[in-house]
Amino acid sequence: MRAIILFDSKTAGGSTDKLIDSIGLELARTGAYVEKAKCKSTGDYSFVKDFDVVIMGAPIYYLIVSSQLLGALMQSNLKEYLAGKKVALFLTCGSPELMANLLYLPQLKMNLVDNTILAERIFAPDQISDPTVIAKYVLELSDAYQKESH
Ligand SMILES: Cc1cc2nc3c(=O)[nH]c(=O)nc-3n(C[C@H](O)[C@H](O)[C@H](O)COP(=O)(O)O)c2cc1C
Repeated sequence: MRAIILFDSKTAGGSTDKLIDSIGLELARTGAYVEKAKCKSTGDYSFVKDFDVVIMGAPIYYLIVSSQLLGALMQSNLKEYLAGKKVALFLTCGSPELMANLLYLPQLKMNLVDNTILAERIFAPDQISDPTVIAKYVLELSDAYQKESH
């Protein structure tokens, strides 16, 4: 599996940066090739065509998914290159999971109605450095990928 993690965060070295490094390492352990790229809402996403799985994630700031990822989905050519791709989603936020599922995840999913979503997960602050939670997310993702590929 070739996977790219498209992410955004306003905090260099913050919780999202740490989380994507852990997700990337865990995924690489399963034999996947993993790269990461920080989103820009005006970016060129043609490189996405070289990957089998696109993992997208960001923090929530003031009730909204961090703006460069959301902007990339709405304004750039990212959606065009996501056509037919398998995706996985994650968010980091302080709100309870129920609220995040109702209010935050749909902000991403409304842009991905034609994609197969392999895994989705809200990471609470105390789960960002929890190897068990991260391993579970990666396992769900890679299991779903195997199933979809057969
Ligand atoms: C300015 C600011 C606004 C935030 N607003 C929300 C919010 O509306 N809802 C929420 O659940 N979490 C909110 N959070 C919590 C962040 O989503 C959470 O701490 C996240 O892990 C931060 O990621 P980062 O370290 O990569 O910036 C906010 C955090 C900050 C700093």
